[in-house]
Amino acid sequence: MSIEIDVLNGDASWPMAEPLFNAVWPPQVVEKLPWAAIVFAHAELRVLVEAEPGGVVCHVGIYRREVKWNGRKVWAGGIGGVLTREDSRRRGYASIALNAAIQTLKHEGATDFALLFCEPHNAPFYVGRGWQPFDGEIYADQPGGRDRFVAIAPYVYDIRRAPRRGVIDLCGLPW
Ligand SMILES: CC(C)(COP(=O)(O)OP(=O)(O)OC[C@H]1O[C@@H](n2cnc3c(N)ncnc32)[C@H](O)[C@@H]1OP(=O)(O)O)[C@@H](O)C(=O)NCCC(=O)NCCS
Repeated sequence: MSIEIDVLNGDASWPMAEPLFNAVWPPQVVEKLPWAAIVFAHAELRVLVEAEPGGVVCHVGIYRREVKWNGRKVWAGGIGGVLTREDSRRRGYASIALNAAIQTLKHEGATDFALLFCEPHNAPFYVGRGWQPFDGEIYADQPGGRDRFVAIAPYVYDIRRAPRRGVIDLCGLPW
């Protein structure tokens, strides 16, 4: 079986990713998740893993944002929408896609650290791939205004900086 890994423009590649989102996160599943009511940003780039046969089996969204860490401007590489089709899990696809996302952020040269948010049951997956919990506070924008973001827990992947504590203001919608 061969796979193809592409890093594509987020908006242009959404039609390719959408069926995977609908399969993994249909409305009746999302409504039970802790982030159901959150408004998220749209990915700027998407890592898509296509398997033969099977089409798009895995997705990782990439966001780049100048955020504030303890009031200081830093570049965060956001990672979101990590999902693999149920019949294609435990084959390493999400690990490959996450790695491609981190390599993309590193290659661009500007990113201080990567940041994602996840539910507790997924934390071991990320910790096993080098992500560390961020023990401080996150603030993010929502349609009703800026507020503390607590729905899902933050994890950091160190690149040039290694934030562990303090306050990160996402300066926009969460991802
Ligand atoms: C979380 C999720 C993205 C993982 O996707 P995945 O493609 O199965 O991930 P991987 O295959 O890279 O790794 C999953 C596990 O399979 C193992 N694995 C990888 N390749 C394997 C193989 N060939 N044979 C057996 N196991 C394998 C990995 O070691 C890993 O286990 P570990 O975390 O104990 O080390 C997927 O379960 C998913 O889509 N869940 C629903 C959506 C979701 O919750 N997304 C996360 C949002 S934060």
